[in-house]
This record gives sequence, C-alpha cells and structure tokens, in this order.
Amino acid sequence: MAQQTSGRDGFATRLGVLAATLGSAVGLGNIWKFPALTGQNGGATFLLVYIIATLLVGLPVMISEIMLGRKAKANAVRTYRELGPKGQPWSLIGISGVIAAVLIMGFYTDVAGWVFAYIFKAMSGSIATTDPAVAKEAFVALVGSPTQSLMWQWIVLALVSAIILGGVSSGIERTTKILMPVLLLLLCVVCARSLTLPKAAEGLAFLFTPDFSKITGGVILMALGLAFFKLSIGMGTMTTYGSYFRDDQNIPVTAARVMLCDLSISILAGVAIFPAVFNFGFEPSAGPSLLFMTIPAVFASMPGGQLFTVIFFCLTAIAATGAMLSLFEVPVAWLVEEFKMSRAKATIGTALVLGVMGAPATLSMSVLGDFKMFGLNMFDLYDFVSSNILLPVGGIFICIFAGWVWGSKRTRELLSNGGHLDNAAVVSGFLFVVKWVSPVLVTIVLLNGLKLF
Ligand code: PFF
Repeated sequence: MAQQTSGRDGFATRLGVLAATLGSAVGLGNIWKFPALTGQNGGATFLLVYIIATLLVGLPVMISEIMLGRKAKANAVRTYRELGPKGQPWSLIGISGVIAAVLIMGFYTDVAGWVFAYIFKAMSGSIATTDPAVAKEAFVALVGSPTQSLMWQWIVLALVSAIILGGVSSGIERTTKILMPVLLLLLCVVCARSLTLPKAAEGLAFLFTPDFSKITGGVILMALGLAFFKLSIGMGTMTTYGSYFRDDQNIPVTAARVMLCDLSISILAGVAIFPAVFNFGFEPSAGPSLLFMTIPAVFASMPGGQLFTVIFFCLTAIAATGAMLSLFEVPVAWLVEEFKMSRAKATIGTALVLGVMGAPATLSMSVLGDFKMFGLNMFDLYDFVSSNILLPVGGIFICIFAGWVWGSKRTRELLSNGGHLDNAAVVSGFLFVVKWVSPVLVTIVLLNGLKLF
C-alpha cells in the first residue's frame, strides 16, 4: 500500500517503484537513439564515453533528483522552490524541465508513431526484407508522408493521454511491471540470431573496439546528452518520480539498479543491431532509420520472423509508452499542483500543446525538410536543445543544489532513510562526486561541445 503522508498518489510497492522508474528510463532511447548515435559517432569509442558519462554524471544526478523529490513530495518546480533558500530562483530547474519535456515529447511521439506504424507494416509482411534498398523505401514511405506520420503521432498522443488520465499508481505501475522482462527476453532472441549471422564479428568489432581518434568535443557532448536522456534526468522527471517513492526505499541502490538495467538493455540493443548492419550491408551511420531497417532484416532471416517482428515492435511501443508517460507527467503534475488544474484538464491541455509542437518535428521529414534553424531541422533542433543543452544545464544545477545547497548533513539524513540504512561510505562517495566531479565535468563538456571554449 502506498505509505504517503501528504495524500498524493504514490507507487504502491517497492518492486513497483523499481519497475516504474525503469519504465521511464527504458524506451526509444535504448532501442532507437542509442544505436543511431553509436553508429553515427564511431561505435565503441562513443559507447565508452557514454558509459563513463552514465557512471560519473548520470547516476549521481539520478540519486540527487529522487532524493529531493521524495523529500519535497511535489512536482519539480515546487520541489526546488520549497527546498531551496527563499528568494533564490532554484525553481528554474523545474521550469527548464517542463520546457525540455515538451521539446522531447515533440520528437519522441513522432518516433513512437513510426514504431506503432511498423507493427502494422510487420503484420502485412511489407517490411520483411534483408535488402537495404527495399527497407529504406518502406521507411521513407512512412516518414515522408505528412498525413501518415502526423496521424500516427496523434494516435500516440491520444493513447498516452488516456493512460495518464488513469492516475499514477494504476496506470504507470501496471503497464511497466508486465513489460520489462518480456522485452528483455525478446531482445535476447534478436541478439542470438544476430550473433549467428555470418558476418556478426564485424558488427561486434565496431561496437567494442575503440578508436580514440574519433573522440571530439562534439562527440563527448552527444554521449553526455544521451546519458541524461537515457536516464530521464536533468529535467525533473526523476524528481517528480522521486515524489512518488516510498520513504523506506533505498534510493542509491534503486538508482544503481535502474542505471545498470538501462545500460544493459542499450548494449543488448547494440548487439542485436550492429552485427546485422554489417552482415546485410546497411549503413551504420543511417541514424534515425537504423532500427527500422535492421530489426526487420534480422527477423526476415529466421523462421517465424514475421511474428517476431510484430511482437518486437509491440514491445518497443510499450517501452516507448512507459517513457512517454513519465515525460507527460512533468507538465501535468506541474499544471495540477501549481495552477490547481484538474488532472483531466491538465492532461488534455498538455496533449493539445504537444500536438501543435510536435507537428513541425514530424513534418521536418517531409514538407518542412528544408526549414532549418541553426543548421538543424526541427526534429534535430528539439533533440539537440533538449538533450545536449537543457538536460546538462539542469544536471549542473541539480548537482550544485544537492551537494552544496541541500548540503552534506541533510543528504546523509535522506539517503540513509534517517539512519535506518547502513550506507555511510556510499553516501560519502556520492557527495564527493556530486559536489566536485559531476558539475565540473558537465560544465567543461558543455562549453567545449558548444565550442564556447
Ligand atoms: N529515458 C527515455 C528513453 O531513453 O527512451 C526518454 C526520456 C523519458 C527522457 C523521460 C526524459 C524523460 F524525462
């Protein structure tokens, strides 16, 4: 049973907390974005930087957010306002998070729409091919059609809004608890097939043999941005989720488990995709289309492949939905608690804003293809500004807030659950990293990646 004092809706069980937090972290980031960026940025080198960013920055920021959210039991904006010293603008972390959530949803719902569409394409058998040219044609036919891609994006928005209206505990917990193990199992099936393809070794070498000449400031910023995006941090999502955490939950352990599971799923997705890329002659740097071409190809080369393709895209759709629920929750919780809006109104209002905001990203694959700002189309711009600027900047301030403003004494109190947990050494390590390592690293990477120094 939820043991909250404030009457807010909360996660009912400890397993539910873990599953729902994982449900936010695991999504298109693992299955779609991680392979796309890894392929575009040199494979193993990118993977290595991404792992370092996850450990040195991702985990500490995640622990900080959950800790502060659970303490304040409020949305991200209010959490930083109430826990921070009066008169200082710490609530801007939450505001920047609401903006980031809207930007991310703008392109995330687009890609989720492609996934939903691929379920039906798989059923019809039209994507069962190992020929790169045919696979590409099928993908372009979907994303290049303004009506089809917009329709799928709006279907996704309607679906997520409907689940959100069901409330936190029942909606999110139920969906994510069932999903995770099944998705993991299916990814293992894809990996097994991929690894037994004749040229699998080339794909593995690409994924696991680093070439340090490929490292640039831009690549490091990209990997850092992915670490933030992957763990749903730097924007108040985990703060909001933290507010639903039970008071007896072990935060550092839960966060570490989520991080490890999330990382494993990304790497599994890489092992599922890259051997197939090299085996069938796809382009590793194909970017957003990579997932949609390679996975059907792997399945097309095995018995029962069509059914597996349908199941795979269904599970990816569910994983994406888990992540979108948590993204949606950021503006919704903010509107409900700050502006006393009803949950229904806040949800519908958010969906409408997202419908309008998301359209330019979706259409940038077709009619708005030539419309660019700062050299990026709207899809890439939403992604760049959110993942590579807003989340890292949010991360810097969250670290400073947790380490310096909230401070060591109160952090020790919160992370040990008022002295009930015997984790003093872990907390000391956390405090050191969150005060001295993470904010400094993120600042350097950000300034360098943006070519500001
Ligand atoms: N972590 C999600 C993924 O990797 O798909 C995306 C995401 C969800 C980012 C929630 C940010 C967020 F607040």
